[in-house]
Amino acid sequence: MIAIGSDHGGFQLKQAIMAHLKERGLSYKDFGTYTPDSCDYPVYGKAVAKAVAAGECERGILICGTGIGISITANKVPGIRAALCTDCFTAEATRLHNDANILALGGRVVGEGLALKIVDTFLDTPFSNDERHIRRISMMED
Ligand code: RB5
Repeated sequence: MIAIGSDHGGFQLKQAIMAHLKERGLSYKDFGTYTPDSCDYPVYGKAVAKAVAAGECERGILICGTGIGISITANKVPGIRAALCTDCFTAEATRLHNDANILALGGRVVGEGLALKIVDTFLDTPFSNDERHIRRISMMED
């Protein structure tokens, strides 16, 4: 199960990503926002991050206008490694190296075509399980 959430700045891209996940046969839970009206990104960043941290959802996708506010919010929840990505290289690397569990995107930064490729890269890339990356991730929690 993938947790997904956005504020108004990411609302349109969230709709496109949910349609894409559905097309791929991947199940998701939409934590809002449910309208394009102005709202506060920490509400959705926290809701998705808590669902992932609690193990209710394996991965999360968060979108705000830049992806910055919502990723900062998510990264304050223990156990969350949210990565703001604007390209596929970064999306692949953050899975391989950081075992990122939340992808953050900027709805006003990346176009829909690129965003969907980033989502696919993030979801389809496994963690490398390399000893050095496991060590570095555990050092983040100290
Ligand atoms: C909302 O206007 C905007 O500030 C928000 O979507 C996000 O970009 C914050 O980091």
